[in-house]
Amino acid sequence: AIKSAFPVTLERWYEHHKRDLPWRHTRDPYRIWLSEIILQQTRVAQGKPYYERFIEAYPTVADMARADERELLRLWQGLGYYSRARNLHQTARYVTDHLAEKFPDSFRDLLKMKGIGEYTAAAIASFAFGERVPVVDGNVYRVLARVYGIEEDITTTKAKKTFAALAGELIQSADDPATYNQAIMEFGAIQCTPLSPDCLLCPLQQQCVAYQTGRQHRLPVKAKK
Ligand code: ADE
Repeated sequence: AIKSAFPVTLERWYEHHKRDLPWRHTRDPYRIWLSEIILQQTRVAQGKPYYERFIEAYPTVADMARADERELLRLWQGLGYYSRARNLHQTARYVTDHLAEKFPDSFRDLLKMKGIGEYTAAAIASFAFGERVPVVDGNVYRVLARVYGIEEDITTTKAKKTFAALAGELIQSADDPATYNQAIMEFGAIQCTPLSPDCLLCPLQQQCVAYQTGRQHRLPVKAKK
């Protein structure tokens, strides 16, 4: 594998710019899972108080497993997509009843859980267990499309494979896979933003194909539905 400077640059950027968020102070897979499910279709500012209320009500996976479903759904009120809350409850019960309260500890085993797809499995596996597996979400598509000048339409299967392969290659050069994954998402959320990326103060300015060719506002390419 070819060593890339990109992951370490992002990790260094992250240490200076990261937001102080409650789920970044834990390696408890239950808490990380809860935070990632809440944040799937919800902004950080909106999701944070929900996360705090859930942790207060259900500090452990066993507490969530024992929860009354109506109460859990009441705590979820306002977040929408209620299937997420029902999946939380079902998975908490599964972990408690069949896995002796021990959360799955690898990307492969996490994927078997209800409501845990590739993104969430990668997030938990890396943040809680340090597994070297890349998270790939909308932020990651945007950052990689710009820095590497990838013109493929991100809605296609072919493009998803291109991005997954590149992400898998890049994480091999990270000092710490958990920090790198948090870093690339945070970078997409606060520096390499969709409409007004802060290119003038960007540590990747020199390497960024999009910036160097003036295409940062055109990437990533997303076919209109
Ligand atoms: N959105 C999804 N996962 C996140 C995380 N771990 N930190 C901040 N925003 C996120």
